[in-house]
Amino acid sequence: MTGKTTFSLIKADIGSYAGHSLVHEDTLKVAERKLEKAQKAGLLIDFRVTHCGDDTELIMTHKHGVDNPKVHKLAWDTFVECTALAKKMHLYGAGQDLLKDAFSGNVKGMGPGSAEMEFTERKAEPVLAFMMDKTEPGAFNLPIYKIFADPFNTPGLVIDASIHGGFVFEIWDIIEHKKVMMSAPEEMYDILALIGAKGRYVIKRIFPKPGGKLPKDEPVACISTDKLFQIAGEYVGKDDPCGIVRAQSGLPAVGEVLEGFSFPHLVSGWMRGSHNGPLMPVGVKDAKCTRFDGPPRLIGLGFQVADGQLVGPNDMFDDPVYDYNRWKAAEIADYMRRHGPFEPHRLPLEDMEYTTLPHVLKKLEGRFGKL
Ligand code: F6R
Ligand code: MG
Ligand code: MG
Repeated sequence: MTGKTTFSLIKADIGSYAGHSLVHEDTLKVAERKLEKAQKAGLLIDFRVTHCGDDTELIMTHKHGVDNPKVHKLAWDTFVECTALAKKMHLYGAGQDLLKDAFSGNVKGMGPGSAEMEFTERKAEPVLAFMMDKTEPGAFNLPIYKIFADPFNTPGLVIDASIHGGFVFEIWDIIEHKKVMMSAPEEMYDILALIGAKGRYVIKRIFPKPGGKLPKDEPVACISTDKLFQIAGEYVGKDDPCGIVRAQSGLPAVGEVLEGFSFPHLVSGWMRGSHNGPLMPVGVKDAKCTRFDGPPRLIGLGFQVADGQLVGPNDMFDDPVYDYNRWKAAEIADYMRRHGPFEPHRLPLEDMEYTTLPHVLKKLEGRFGKL
């Protein structure tokens, strides 16, 4: 136990209806009851259960730090119980993200995705939880970069002395399992050289610079980076990431954070995890993947964290001001769809290696002749 607060966001696809489009409210109730018990037993301070597309999302606060075995076991057991009902209801893909049979101390490497931060609460602590469906962790690269390094998105980087110094980016190479700490704005071109390759280099955490208002060793943003393909060894659906961002007073304002997500940029995922398409910001009620199993959706829930209690959520993208961005996303979706099975709508060859492409090549093996 520490004096700090831990904010944990752990998610999994435990099944949905119809097909991979939407979580069923009865399975959400199972999760709510389970977390309520854990709250009464003192493990959690507070929690919210929500969903984005076919993903069940557990938002939890506690005092036990990140990667805590008890909290992770609670999340795992919750997904297992939800799965039991999902199976009974014949929901689609029931238990699809529970890739291992027995829990081994941490949900990492077992299927579910997690983003967690432990921090000293400020007098008023705004925290935003972002959840995406039908895409991969690298989908966070562009918005997180804009929020913490691009003055055209975040004017505070220019006009607020407390963030003028910039931020430190923790970037992971999720193929070779290495990480590097890089400093913005000093190294922004080098940062972009890496994170533009969003299938490989992903932003894991953001830290304040030393000497600022906030402690330099407490993260101010964290993204899930779990790769289902690498765990299962075969295609089992996209990794559907989530992330947490703290805001205001020495950090980008809530509006600067949301602004980073307003542009429906192209992300990979969508139908069969094999297509590029726009990321559409929506309210929770619209977080269901329909057209061509998409387009990829994003929700954002805003909270004030008060001694670990969650005040909120404010459903941030449930606002008509984003209608324009949604229309833009719909227009881009339509445009991309016209490409059918052609790149760049369909993902490039490297990514298709996880699907049927190797089988097609195998079948044609004897028929390829020299040019
Ligand atoms: C993408 C996704 C869906 C499925 C598609 C086929 O992440 O979940 O687009 O890939 O609906 O699903 P199956 O193979 O289960 O019929
Ligand atoms: Mg699914
Ligand atoms: Mg999903």
